[in-house]
Amino acid sequence: MTLRLGDIAPDFTAVTTEGEINFHEYLGENWGILFSHPADYTPVCTTELGTVAKLKSEFDKRNVKVLALSVDGLADHEGWIKDINETQATQVNFPLIADKDRKISQLYDMIHPNASENFTVRSVFVIGDDRKIKLIITYPASTGRNFDELLRVIDSLQLTADYSVATPANWKQGEDVVIAPSIKNEDISSKFPKGHKVIKPYLRTTPQPNI
Ligand code: BEZ
Repeated sequence: MTLRLGDIAPDFTAVTTEGEINFHEYLGENWGILFSHPADYTPVCTTELGTVAKLKSEFDKRNVKVLALSVDGLADHEGWIKDINETQATQVNFPLIADKDRKISQLYDMIHPNASENFTVRSVFVIGDDRKIKLIITYPASTGRNFDELLRVIDSLQLTADYSVATPANWKQGEDVVIAPSIKNEDISSKFPKGHKVIKPYLRTTPQPNI
């Protein structure tokens, strides 16, 4: 099955380092980030999981539940987590799916056979509180992800969900945002009381509404 933006994130039940998890129940009313990595006891993955553990409070602040996946088994996950805690000076504080039968990897198309027959690539899915897929990114095994960038995208997605705005290229927290084309000029002042600029009829900006 090809998953696309706007699709409902497929539900599943998984064996994880924090017990059996039903994905939709785990998400509850929250947003979610589901990400795969190629294998346990590998260097880049070790740094990624340590980084996510250190950023957990940032995901919590945004009501984002974190869930990682690899195709290794629970015993490997548990041994590897000890190494991550030791080498990355943190405590892994989110569940890691043991997808030994590759059911979830296949459901989310995380195995790209021309890159690797057996291992998952670095897939990322961000899921909204409506359980719809809001973002899909695929990285190769050799490139560790930039999780600050993923937090930035989540900030952008949550702004779009809560206000009728989009974010421009390289936007960062605190910078002006773009007013959605669907907003009529006559409605801008009431919707965006902090003011706005009309740079072109199709390019209208306003201060970030939620700060
Ligand atoms: C790593 O996590 O270090 C890694 C995994 C698979 C291929 C290359 C690097």
